[in-house]
Amino acid sequence: MKDSVRAAVDLISSSRSYASAGSEVAAVREVSLTIDGGESVAIMGPSGSGKTTLLNLIAGLDRATAGEVVVLDQSLTGLSESDLTAFRAQNLGLVFQESHLLAGLSALENVIVARLPWEKRSALEPRARDLLAVLGLETRADHPPSKLSGGERQRVGVARALLGNPALVIADEPTGNLDVAATGELLKLLEDLRRRLGLTLIVATHDAAVAETMDRTVRMSGGRVIAA
Ligand SMILES: Nc1ncnc2c1ncn2[C@@H]1O[C@H](COP(=O)(O)OP(=O)(O)OP(=O)(O)O)[C@@H](O)[C@H]1O
Ligand SMILES: [Mg+2]
Repeated sequence: MKDSVRAAVDLISSSRSYASAGSEVAAVREVSLTIDGGESVAIMGPSGSGKTTLLNLIAGLDRATAGEVVVLDQSLTGLSESDLTAFRAQNLGLVFQESHLLAGLSALENVIVARLPWEKRSALEPRARDLLAVLGLETRADHPPSKLSGGERQRVGVARALLGNPALVIADEPTGNLDVAATGELLKLLEDLRRRLGLTLIVATHDAAVAETMDRTVRMSGGRVIAA
């Protein structure tokens, strides 16, 4: 069980602007937001409101152009690219809309491959099998992605995100391509895992039913947080 008392995320007047063709697009504007350890938070808002940009700032995949981003007591502002990569590998689990599995690898190998620079295969493999079993995929471990359903592929993506025992899981519309039943199943699994493992979970979604399963909804509009 991870420490779930301290703040998992602290955004302090964080902004991200993009320069494009002489003008500036403010994708995230002066967002101040605290997410507690162990909380599950839905990020909602219309297309273009800044959800993905906000998640990318928290994940250290993008850098704030103003303000500060503190994740698990670590300020990301001054970290080098290689330190950010190591921070992500040690602390974060990322789930994307597309699971981006490698076609030539089995489900099990897909779960493991990104962590091979950090840990031995012999240590990773039993943990990956356990995670696939928890996610209902024990009989699918040796299948290639082409023989899995969309929901199964997405669960492989979740297993991959959890393999490093992250304290914080960030998911950007993880159910965007799934039908209602598969969406419900994936979210139930994520919520169960959050409770059991003491994770903090942040999910960007357009789906109000998804948001309802979570502790809190943060609403964005025009790059700002309008309700938290
Ligand atoms: N690399 C970039 N360069 C320029 N503008 C960008 C870039 N990335 C995002 N934007 C702009 O920033 C704004 C926020 O985009 P973002 O992808 O964060 O929205 P979103 O809320 O995730 O939308 P969606 O629900 O469609 O995924 C948009 O106006 C977008 O066009
Ligand atoms: Mg988005």
